[in-house]
Amino acid sequence: MKVSQEFSKYAKEYPKFNQIQEEVAKKLIKFLASTEHFTYKPKKILDLGCGSGAVYNLIDWKVERFIGVDFSHKMLELHPKAENVTCLLGDFNDNRLFEELLKEEFDYIVSASALQWAEDLESIFKNIAGFHLPVSLAVFTSGTFAAINKTAKVDAITPSKEKIIELAEKYLDAEIEIVNYSLEFETVRDMFRYIKKSGVSAARNVLNYKQTKKLMDEYPLNYLEFEVVYINSFSKA
Ligand SMILES: C[S@@+](CC[C@H](N)C(=O)[O-])C[C@H]1O[C@@H](n2cnc3c(N)ncnc32)[C@H](O)[C@@H]1O
Repeated sequence: MKVSQEFSKYAKEYPKFNQIQEEVAKKLIKFLASTEHFTYKPKKILDLGCGSGAVYNLIDWKVERFIGVDFSHKMLELHPKAENVTCLLGDFNDNRLFEELLKEEFDYIVSASALQWAEDLESIFKNIAGFHLPVSLAVFTSGTFAAINKTAKVDAITPSKEKIIELAEKYLDAEIEIVNYSLEFETVRDMFRYIKKSGVSAARNVLNYKQTKKLMDEYPLNYLEFEVVYINSFSKA
Protein backbone atom coordinates (compact mmCIF):
# COMPACT_ATOMS: atom_id res chain seq x y z
CA MET A 1 0.00 0.00 0.00
CA LYS A 2 1.31 3.39 -0.94
CA VAL A 3 0.70 6.50 1.15
CA SER A 4 1.39 9.88 -0.43
CA GLN A 5 1.20 13.48 0.53
CA GLU A 6 0.25 14.86 -2.81
CA PHE A 7 0.30 18.64 -2.79
CA SER A 8 -0.77 21.82 -1.22
CA LYS A 9 -2.41 24.35 -3.46
CA TYR A 10 -3.46 27.86 -2.84
CA ALA A 11 -7.12 28.15 -3.61
CA LYS A 12 -7.33 31.93 -3.90
CA GLU A 13 -6.46 32.04 -7.57
CA TYR A 14 -9.15 29.61 -8.53
CA PRO A 15 -12.80 30.53 -8.63
CA LYS A 16 -13.59 26.83 -8.78
CA PHE A 17 -14.82 24.62 -6.02
CA ASN A 18 -13.82 21.25 -7.34
CA GLN A 19 -10.04 21.45 -7.52
CA ILE A 20 -9.45 18.34 -5.48
CA GLN A 21 -12.02 16.31 -7.43
CA GLU A 22 -10.28 17.36 -10.62
CA GLU A 23 -6.94 16.14 -9.27
CA VAL A 24 -8.63 12.90 -8.29
CA ALA A 25 -10.20 12.41 -11.73
CA LYS A 26 -6.83 13.11 -13.38
CA LYS A 27 -5.13 10.51 -11.24
CA LEU A 28 -7.81 7.93 -12.00
CA ILE A 29 -7.55 8.56 -15.72
CA LYS A 30 -3.83 7.77 -15.54
CA PHE A 31 -4.77 4.30 -14.32
CA LEU A 32 -7.33 3.86 -17.08
CA ALA A 33 -4.86 4.96 -19.71
CA SER A 34 -1.96 2.98 -18.29
CA THR A 35 -0.59 0.30 -20.53
CA GLU A 36 1.45 -1.06 -17.66
CA HIS A 37 -1.41 -3.33 -16.69
CA PHE A 38 -3.24 -3.67 -20.00
CA THR A 39 -2.40 -3.88 -23.62
CA TYR A 40 -5.43 -1.74 -24.40
CA LYS A 41 -7.13 1.39 -23.23
CA PRO A 42 -10.70 0.80 -22.08
CA LYS A 43 -13.34 1.30 -24.72
CA LYS A 44 -16.58 0.61 -22.86
CA ILE A 45 -16.56 2.47 -19.60
CA LEU A 46 -19.03 2.67 -16.73
CA ASP A 47 -18.64 5.75 -14.51
CA LEU A 48 -20.52 5.60 -11.19
CA GLY A 49 -21.39 9.06 -9.85
CA CYS A 50 -20.21 10.68 -13.08
CA GLY A 51 -21.33 14.20 -12.09
CA SER A 52 -20.77 16.81 -14.75
CA GLY A 53 -18.23 14.69 -16.60
CA ALA A 54 -14.84 15.13 -14.94
CA VAL A 55 -13.78 11.62 -15.94
CA TYR A 56 -15.26 11.69 -19.45
CA ASN A 57 -13.69 15.07 -20.17
CA LEU A 58 -10.24 13.68 -19.48
CA ILE A 59 -10.50 10.73 -21.83
CA ASP A 60 -8.31 11.52 -24.79
CA TRP A 61 -8.68 8.26 -26.65
CA LYS A 62 -11.54 6.89 -28.66
CA VAL A 63 -14.19 5.08 -26.66
CA GLU A 64 -17.02 3.04 -28.13
CA ARG A 65 -19.33 3.49 -25.19
CA PHE A 66 -19.40 5.57 -22.03
CA ILE A 67 -22.21 5.18 -19.52
CA GLY A 68 -22.24 7.81 -16.80
CA VAL A 69 -24.58 7.13 -13.89
CA ASP A 70 -25.67 9.82 -11.48
CA PHE A 71 -28.74 10.37 -9.35
CA SER A 72 -28.71 14.10 -9.95
CA HIS A 73 -30.60 15.38 -13.00
CA LYS A 74 -28.73 18.63 -12.76
CA MET A 75 -25.31 16.99 -12.88
CA LEU A 76 -26.32 14.82 -15.82
CA GLU A 77 -27.55 17.89 -17.69
CA LEU A 78 -24.01 19.25 -17.45
CA HIS A 79 -22.37 16.02 -18.58
CA PRO A 80 -21.08 16.11 -22.17
CA LYS A 81 -23.38 14.37 -24.62
CA ALA A 82 -22.37 12.37 -27.67
CA GLU A 83 -23.61 9.45 -29.69
CA ASN A 84 -21.47 7.03 -27.72
CA VAL A 85 -22.34 8.58 -24.34
CA THR A 86 -25.30 7.51 -22.21
CA CYS A 87 -26.17 9.61 -19.19
CA LEU A 88 -28.19 7.35 -16.94
CA LEU A 89 -30.21 8.67 -14.05
CA GLY A 90 -29.66 6.06 -11.36
CA ASP A 91 -28.85 5.54 -7.72
CA PHE A 92 -25.85 3.39 -6.88
CA ASN A 93 -27.50 2.54 -3.56
CA ASP A 94 -30.15 0.66 -5.49
CA ASN A 95 -29.33 -2.96 -6.35
CA ARG A 96 -31.73 -2.78 -9.30
CA LEU A 97 -29.36 -0.32 -10.99
CA PHE A 98 -26.64 -2.97 -10.95
CA GLU A 99 -29.04 -5.65 -12.20
CA GLU A 100 -29.74 -3.43 -15.21
CA LEU A 101 -26.09 -2.52 -15.73
CA LEU A 102 -25.06 -6.18 -15.70
CA LYS A 103 -27.01 -6.58 -18.95
CA GLU A 104 -24.69 -4.05 -20.59
CA GLU A 105 -21.20 -4.68 -21.82
CA PHE A 106 -18.27 -2.80 -20.27
CA ASP A 107 -14.57 -3.32 -20.07
CA TYR A 108 -13.82 -0.93 -17.18
CA ILE A 109 -15.57 0.55 -14.16
CA VAL A 110 -14.52 3.89 -12.77
CA SER A 111 -15.82 6.06 -9.96
CA ALA A 112 -14.28 9.37 -8.94
CA SER A 113 -15.11 11.16 -5.68
CA ALA A 114 -18.58 9.67 -5.39
CA LEU A 115 -18.69 6.40 -3.48
CA GLN A 116 -18.09 8.04 -0.09
CA TRP A 117 -21.80 8.86 -0.25
CA ALA A 118 -22.82 5.22 -0.48
CA GLU A 119 -25.39 4.20 2.08
CA ASP A 120 -23.86 0.74 2.19
CA LEU A 121 -20.35 0.71 0.74
CA GLU A 122 -20.04 -3.06 1.19
CA SER A 123 -23.05 -3.72 -0.99
CA ILE A 124 -21.70 -1.40 -3.69
CA PHE A 125 -18.26 -3.02 -3.67
CA LYS A 126 -19.97 -6.41 -3.88
CA ASN A 127 -22.04 -5.19 -6.85
CA ILE A 128 -18.95 -3.76 -8.56
CA ALA A 129 -17.03 -7.00 -7.99
CA GLY A 130 -19.92 -8.87 -9.68
CA PHE A 131 -18.88 -7.41 -13.05
CA HIS A 132 -15.46 -9.14 -12.89
CA LEU A 133 -13.87 -6.17 -14.60
CA PRO A 134 -10.89 -3.96 -13.95
CA VAL A 135 -11.87 -1.02 -11.76
CA SER A 136 -10.43 2.31 -10.66
CA LEU A 137 -12.21 3.94 -7.76
CA ALA A 138 -11.40 6.98 -5.68
CA VAL A 139 -13.23 7.34 -2.39
CA PHE A 140 -12.91 10.23 0.05
CA THR A 141 -12.34 9.09 3.64
CA SER A 142 -13.24 10.40 7.07
CA GLY A 143 -9.76 11.99 7.08
CA THR A 144 -11.33 14.61 4.83
CA PHE A 145 -12.09 17.74 6.88
CA ALA A 146 -10.69 15.91 9.92
CA ALA A 147 -9.72 19.11 11.76
CA ILE A 148 -13.12 20.61 11.04
CA ASN A 149 -14.89 17.62 12.50
CA LYS A 150 -12.59 17.65 15.52
CA THR A 151 -13.06 21.38 16.11
CA ALA A 152 -16.83 21.17 15.68
CA LYS A 153 -16.96 17.93 17.69
CA VAL A 154 -18.96 16.13 15.03
CA ASP A 155 -18.46 12.70 13.52
CA ALA A 156 -17.24 12.35 9.95
CA ILE A 157 -19.95 11.53 7.44
CA THR A 158 -17.57 9.75 5.10
CA PRO A 159 -16.25 6.22 5.73
CA SER A 160 -12.91 5.60 7.44
CA LYS A 161 -9.95 4.60 5.30
CA GLU A 162 -9.71 1.38 7.31
CA LYS A 163 -13.27 0.45 6.33
CA ILE A 164 -12.73 1.32 2.66
CA ILE A 165 -9.48 -0.66 2.52
CA GLU A 166 -11.02 -3.64 4.30
CA LEU A 167 -13.86 -3.79 1.75
CA ALA A 168 -11.57 -3.19 -1.23
CA GLU A 169 -9.35 -6.04 -0.12
CA LYS A 170 -12.32 -8.29 0.53
CA TYR A 171 -14.09 -7.76 -2.78
CA LEU A 172 -11.71 -6.33 -5.32
CA ASP A 173 -8.25 -7.86 -4.95
CA ALA A 174 -6.99 -4.33 -5.38
CA GLU A 175 -3.90 -2.20 -5.32
CA ILE A 176 -4.52 0.56 -2.82
CA GLU A 177 -3.04 3.99 -2.46
CA ILE A 178 -3.94 6.62 0.10
CA VAL A 179 -3.32 10.23 -0.82
CA ASN A 180 -3.60 13.18 1.53
CA TYR A 181 -4.28 16.52 -0.08
CA SER A 182 -4.35 19.96 1.45
CA LEU A 183 -5.78 23.12 0.02
CA GLU A 184 -4.77 26.48 1.44
CA PHE A 185 -7.02 29.52 1.71
CA GLU A 186 -6.39 33.16 2.38
CA THR A 187 -9.42 33.59 4.60
CA VAL A 188 -11.57 31.32 6.72
CA ARG A 189 -14.60 32.62 4.84
CA ASP A 190 -13.15 31.43 1.52
CA MET A 191 -12.42 28.08 3.08
CA PHE A 192 -15.95 27.56 4.30
CA ARG A 193 -17.37 28.76 1.00
CA TYR A 194 -15.31 26.06 -0.67
CA ILE A 195 -16.69 23.42 1.67
CA LYS A 196 -20.22 24.53 0.99
CA LYS A 197 -19.85 24.60 -2.77
CA SER A 198 -17.67 21.56 -3.34
CA GLY A 199 -19.43 18.24 -3.84
CA VAL A 200 -17.27 16.67 -1.17
CA SER A 201 -19.27 18.26 1.61
CA ALA A 202 -22.75 17.20 0.52
CA ALA A 203 -25.11 16.65 3.44
CA ARG A 204 -22.88 18.54 5.85
CA ASN A 205 -25.70 20.60 7.23
CA VAL A 206 -25.30 19.40 10.75
CA LEU A 207 -24.31 22.76 12.19
CA ASN A 208 -26.61 25.72 12.67
CA TYR A 209 -25.54 29.30 12.00
CA LYS A 210 -24.18 29.88 15.51
CA GLN A 211 -22.22 26.63 15.53
CA THR A 212 -20.80 27.38 12.08
CA LYS A 213 -19.69 30.82 13.23
CA LYS A 214 -18.00 29.29 16.28
CA LEU A 215 -16.29 26.71 14.06
CA MET A 216 -15.02 29.44 11.75
CA ASP A 217 -13.61 31.33 14.73
CA GLU A 218 -11.93 28.29 16.21
CA TYR A 219 -10.69 26.41 13.12
CA PRO A 220 -6.93 26.12 13.73
CA LEU A 221 -5.62 25.69 10.17
CA ASN A 222 -5.38 27.84 7.04
CA TYR A 223 -5.97 24.82 4.87
CA LEU A 224 -8.48 22.04 4.35
CA GLU A 225 -7.53 18.41 4.51
CA PHE A 226 -8.71 15.75 2.10
CA GLU A 227 -7.91 12.08 2.17
CA VAL A 228 -8.63 9.78 -0.73
CA VAL A 229 -8.28 6.02 -1.09
CA TYR A 230 -7.48 4.94 -4.64
CA ILE A 231 -8.49 1.39 -5.46
CA ASN A 232 -7.25 -0.20 -8.62
CA SER A 233 -8.13 -3.73 -9.42
CA PHE A 234 -6.74 -5.04 -12.65
CA SER A 235 -7.76 -8.66 -12.46
CA LYS A 236 -10.69 -9.88 -14.48
CA ALA A 237 -11.16 -12.99 -12.35
C1 LIG B 1 -18.22 15.01 -5.83
S1 LIG B 1 -19.21 14.59 -7.19
C2 LIG B 1 -18.03 13.80 -8.27
C3 LIG B 1 -18.48 13.85 -9.69
C4 LIG B 1 -17.47 13.33 -10.72
N1 LIG B 1 -17.30 11.90 -10.64
C5 LIG B 1 -16.16 14.04 -10.57
O1 LIG B 1 -15.14 13.36 -10.43
O2 LIG B 1 -16.13 15.28 -10.62
C6 LIG B 1 -20.15 13.22 -6.59
C7 LIG B 1 -21.24 12.78 -7.54
O3 LIG B 1 -21.84 11.59 -7.05
C8 LIG B 1 -23.22 11.66 -7.27
N2 LIG B 1 -23.87 10.73 -6.34
C9 LIG B 1 -23.86 10.78 -4.99
N3 LIG B 1 -24.59 9.78 -4.48
C10 LIG B 1 -25.06 9.06 -5.55
C11 LIG B 1 -25.88 7.91 -5.67
N4 LIG B 1 -26.37 7.31 -4.60
N5 LIG B 1 -26.13 7.43 -6.91
C12 LIG B 1 -25.65 8.07 -8.01
N6 LIG B 1 -24.88 9.18 -7.96
C13 LIG B 1 -24.58 9.68 -6.74
C14 LIG B 1 -23.55 13.12 -7.03
O4 LIG B 1 -24.78 13.49 -7.62
C15 LIG B 1 -22.35 13.81 -7.66
O5 LIG B 1 -22.58 14.11 -9.02
